[in-house]
Amino acid sequence: PALRTPLRVAAPAVAALVLAATSAACTGGPVQGRPGASGLRDPYFPKAGNGGYDVEHYGLDLAYDPDSGRLEGVAVLTARATQGLSSFNLDLDGLDVQGVTVQGAGARFNRTGHELTVRPADDLKKNEVFRTEVRYAGEPRAVKDLDGAQEGWVRTEDGALGVGEPVGSMAWFPGNHHPSDKATYDITLRVPKGYEGVSNGELRSRTDGADGRTAFAWHSAEPMASYLAIAAVGPYKISTGRSPAGVPLYNAVAPEAAQESAPALDRLGEVVDWGSRVFGPYPFATAGAVVEPEGTLGYALETQSRPVYSGPPDVDLLVHETAHQWFGNCVSPASWKDMWLNEGFAVYAEWLWSEQHQGPSAQERFEAFLDGDTEVDDEAGTDWAAFPPASPPGAAHISDPPVYYRGAMVLHRIRQEVGDEDFFALVRGWVADHRYGNADTADFTSYAEEQTGTDLDEVWDVWLYGKGRPKPPS
Ligand code: ARG
Ligand code: ZN
Repeated sequence: PALRTPLRVAAPAVAALVLAATSAACTGGPVQGRPGASGLRDPYFPKAGNGGYDVEHYGLDLAYDPDSGRLEGVAVLTARATQGLSSFNLDLDGLDVQGVTVQGAGARFNRTGHELTVRPADDLKKNEVFRTEVRYAGEPRAVKDLDGAQEGWVRTEDGALGVGEPVGSMAWFPGNHHPSDKATYDITLRVPKGYEGVSNGELRSRTDGADGRTAFAWHSAEPMASYLAIAAVGPYKISTGRSPAGVPLYNAVAPEAAQESAPALDRLGEVVDWGSRVFGPYPFATAGAVVEPEGTLGYALETQSRPVYSGPPDVDLLVHETAHQWFGNCVSPASWKDMWLNEGFAVYAEWLWSEQHQGPSAQERFEAFLDGDTEVDDEAGTDWAAFPPASPPGAAHISDPPVYYRGAMVLHRIRQEVGDEDFFALVRGWVADHRYGNADTADFTSYAEEQTGTDLDEVWDVWLYGKGRPKPPS
C-alpha cells in the first residue's frame, strides 16, 4: 500500500527543497539518512526487531473494552538513532494505524506484513534521541507460535491477556521486538470500571475517570525486553504485601483460581528472598503474580517482575518463573538461540530449591535424566537429549525439552567440575556482570572458564554443543 499521508507540498517548494538538498550534500549540510534495517537477523526470527535505532523508553496507553475486544492505543517511543535515518521500521502485527508523528511532526508510514515503516519529515541524525508516537486501534489478535503455543493478545472469558514470548508483543504494541533492545516502560491500562488492569513493575496510580474507565498506571524502572511485557485485564482478586526481606508483592488472581492458588502464592515472598540469597539481589522493584483460569495459555511465562500462570501454580513453578527474573529478564538472551541460558537456569533453580528444601538433590535429578526415568512435560514427547541446547534445530524448537533439561544438565556438569563454592560464585558473578543487559552463549562459556580457572571444553563439546546423547561423566 502507498504511504498514507499525502505530500502537501506545492511543486515549486519541492524544487526548492531538491536544490537545497543538493547543495547541502556538497557542503556537508543537513544529514542524509538511510533506511534502518527491517530485521536484526536473529538466527531463528530474522525479521524480529529492527536496525538503526535503540529504544530507551516505551510509554503505552492502552484502552481496552472486554466486551467488544477493541483496543485503542497510543505508543510513545523514545529512541536513539544508531545511524542517520531516512526511515525506520517498527514491528506491529495487525491493528489499524491511525497516525504517526516523529519529533511532533506528522510522519508518513506504510505497512507490509508486520513491518511498519515510518518516514519522518526530517531525517534523523546518528545519536539523535527522537520521540515517535503511534496511534492505533482495532481488535488485537492471538498469535500462534511455531510450536503451537498461543501468545499475543489472548481473550479470556471476561477480559484479556497480552503476552509475547517470543514474538507476540507486536500483536498489541508497536516496537523493536527483539530481546536485544531493552527499554524502560510506562504502561497505562484503561479498562471499564470494575475490571483490574495489571502490568509489569510498580502501580503508580489507579484513577477512576469520568469516562467510566479506571486507569492503572504501571512503571518499570529497570530495562525490559519487549517479550516480557504483560497486559492483563480481568476481574482479578488483588492482594498486596511484602516478602520477609521487603520486596513489594502485587498479585492478581482470577476468582476461580484463588482458593487453589493460595498455598503456593503465600510462599512467593519466601521464594523471591531465596532467589536473592542464591543468585544475588532481586533485580526489580516489585514482584508478584498474575494467575489466570486453568488453560488460558497452557504455559506459565516469566513476564517481568510479575509472571503469569495459566491456572493455580505450585511452588516449583513459582521457583521456575521467579528464577527467570535473574536469568532471562535481568540478563537477557542476545538472540533466541540463547534460550537455554533462560530455561536451563530456571530448571536448575528448581533443582536447587528441591535440594535445599528436603527434596531430591540436583545430582539425583541429573542422574534421573541420564537413567531415563524422568518424564518431561512435552506433547511431542521430545527427549531431553534430542539436540544440543545451544543449537535448537529451528524456531519451532526453542522451547523444547533439551533447552530446559539438558540446559540444566550443562549447569550441573559445570558444578561437578568446579565444586560448589566456585559454582555459586560463578552464578552470582554472571548475573552481576551482565545485570540489565544481554548475553550470548559464548559470553557464558568464556565467563565460566575465566571465573573458575577451569577448562570446561568437555562440558561445552559434549553437553552444550554435542549432537549425540551425552554419556554419564566418568
Ligand atoms: N518461558 C516460559 C517458561 O518456561 C515458557 C514459554 C513457552 N512458550 C512457548 N511458545 N512454548 O517459563
Ligand atoms: Zn522457563
